[in-house]
Amino acid sequence: MMIVNRITQSRVWTSIFRHNLDDKPRNKGLAVTSNVFLHIHPVTTRASAMKVRFTFCMGGLTFLMFIVEVVTGILLMFYYRPVPEYAYTDMKLIEHTVHYGMFLRNMHRWAAHAMVILVMLHMLRVFLTGSYKPPREFNWVVGVLLLTLTLLLSFTGYLLPWDQIAFWAITVGSKMAAATPFLGSEGPFHELLKINEYNDMQYLLLGDNRVWGNALLRFYVLHCVLLPVMCTVFIAIHFWRIRKDGGISRPL
Ligand code: HEM
Repeated sequence: MMIVNRITQSRVWTSIFRHNLDDKPRNKGLAVTSNVFLHIHPVTTRASAMKVRFTFCMGGLTFLMFIVEVVTGILLMFYYRPVPEYAYTDMKLIEHTVHYGMFLRNMHRWAAHAMVILVMLHMLRVFLTGSYKPPREFNWVVGVLLLTLTLLLSFTGYLLPWDQIAFWAITVGSKMAAATPFLGSEGPFHELLKINEYNDMQYLLLGDNRVWGNALLRFYVLHCVLLPVMCTVFIAIHFWRIRKDGGISRPL
């Protein structure tokens, strides 16, 4: 019991779970109004939180870019096959034979660039306004995960056009994995863990020791399924935390 109390009263725990719903009669009402699913809008909003110049809506715009990526990405999936024989041709066919294909592909590409730039500007805004400080420290951690996921989405998407720049960029990127200390077959201390070119980080990433069919398929699954699903889950947690932390922070 002592250990449970120590955990539930710790700073990390209370930064994630704010209040115990059964501890006061007033909390019976709070159970409904503070539940994001039962009461999607907050009961009150501060006028200062509505000021566009405080956030410049960077987080909201990052989210908008994510939605654009999901919609255009699903449409691109109808025409693209992740195998070396077809990937490049499919991409060219999307551009030149599919109605609005060039527009679709460019929208996906430009919104991806915009998402990376906006997420960094959003992070800068949060930092400059000190919004990472308690009680929002947990949401900063969720944000760091979202930044990592955004960069990984960008990295995995880069291989899919299967052109020269994609091929060589991922060759260089995955060589870095091979140079990882301990876990990369060309990295320092790899002999200690009996790591070779068939069980190292580069092999895990590519499913091979060079960029070819297995790598293309792995990157496609990561890009179209795993990373977007993870991003959706963490964005939901991010938005839920904003409600639980009392809305966005106030201008000083
Ligand atoms: C996919 C990426 C992300 C999305 C879609 C997103 C979305 C949002 C939105 C819509 C807000 C509300 C206020 C605003 O629009 O600025 C917000 C607030 C916040 N975000 Fe993000 N965010 C992302 C990444 C990040 C990153 C990388 C960090 C920091 C490492 C971060 C930390 C925070 C914090 C601490 C708040 C609360 C700010 C406050 O109360 O003023 N977020 N986010």
